[in-house]
Amino acid sequence: MDIKVKTEGLGIEKENILEMRAEASKALDRLWSGNQDMTGWVQAPIHQSAEELEYILNVADVIKEEAQLLVVVGIGGSYLGAKAAIEALPKVERGAHVRFFGTNFCTDYYRETIEEIKQKNTILCVISKSGNTTEIKAAFDTLKPIMEEKYGSREAANQRIITVTDAEKGGLRAETEKNGYTNLIIPSDIGGRYSALTPAGLLPMAVSGIDIRELLHGAKDMALSASWDDDGTDYAICRHLMQETGRVIEIIEMCHSRLGYLGEWIKQLYGESEGKNGQGLFPATLTFSTDLHSMGQYIQQGRQNFFETIVSVDDPEYTVTIPEGDLKGKTIDELNKAMIEGVINAHRGVGIPVAEIHIPKLDAYHYGQLLYYLETTCAITAMLDGVNPFDQPGVEAYKAEMRKILGL
Ligand code: PA5
Repeated sequence: MDIKVKTEGLGIEKENILEMRAEASKALDRLWSGNQDMTGWVQAPIHQSAEELEYILNVADVIKEEAQLLVVVGIGGSYLGAKAAIEALPKVERGAHVRFFGTNFCTDYYRETIEEIKQKNTILCVISKSGNTTEIKAAFDTLKPIMEEKYGSREAANQRIITVTDAEKGGLRAETEKNGYTNLIIPSDIGGRYSALTPAGLLPMAVSGIDIRELLHGAKDMALSASWDDDGTDYAICRHLMQETGRVIEIIEMCHSRLGYLGEWIKQLYGESEGKNGQGLFPATLTFSTDLHSMGQYIQQGRQNFFETIVSVDDPEYTVTIPEGDLKGKTIDELNKAMIEGVINAHRGVGIPVAEIHIPKLDAYHYGQLLYYLETTCAITAMLDGVNPFDQPGVEAYKAEMRKILGL
């Protein structure tokens, strides 16, 4: 694998890691066995059908031809994978603007989105596996009449609505069939937070101009990487073992400004997969160097119940050299790397365990590797913790309470 993960700085004895490799390998075998529920994502990049990929790319081309704006209605796993990739990755093809909607109940954001739809040629893409998420119903039911008014009739609006749904289940599925929306499928055995490499993530990414073939190529190479038989599971093992040392918070620190939403995606992946039965690391994210000037104080001298995982890009796309002053002749990346080394020295100097994840380049291929690596790591840590990585009963609890309050 090209992604480099260093766990030595976490202070866990090598023999403790080696002792757990057999158990981690068993967890990996279970993921690959095909017998475990909701593990369709494990082999999906290997068996990706050429026809399905063509279909996604064709739908994306039609959207780019016919619209300036794609409004994607989705929340949680039905939006974060696409949003994070669109923030992070270079656009290699001409794309349409993608706006995400249905991610909150903010009236001002509703108003801004409605205004933008009125002004721009728009296509709506609604992504929901269950079809009964309140945020999504509210957003879709608000936007349908706006589209109808803009395009003259319900039939004309329906031509500009695309849904991404489960193959069989959910209210959105039934509505799709009734109204003849263009439809793409999230396989039934892939849950929301593991769906970034299904049409839920791939369609908005392709519309924005990201090279999704390369993304899937990276994920496939990571799935088949020989490192899984060697040290590929060590970060997962360490994340499990850190909890026994009382360090129950993992602060994931992004040293590239385009990785902020990757942090949001990781928080969902780790938090929903691992936080149950009183178990799990609490995932937090920061962006460096920005947050060193705020949260840096807490990290250096506050309560030490956390460890850090620093995520950085080795080879940035461009070089910027400082033209004058004390720093004359130094590149911005040299400063970034000096900042990272300084952070590691200062934090390890007071006993904080620090892991590192190095992405060689911020392109679709390496990003695909990273997503697959993080999904697998997360599932293995959860299994070592003794919890099911693929359910989220805690999320359902608030939804039920909210429906009760609304009398639904
Ligand atoms: O990971 C998950 O399962 C959740 O975050 C869901 O993706 C989120 O609640 C949205 O659900 P749905 O796609 O069913 O609307």
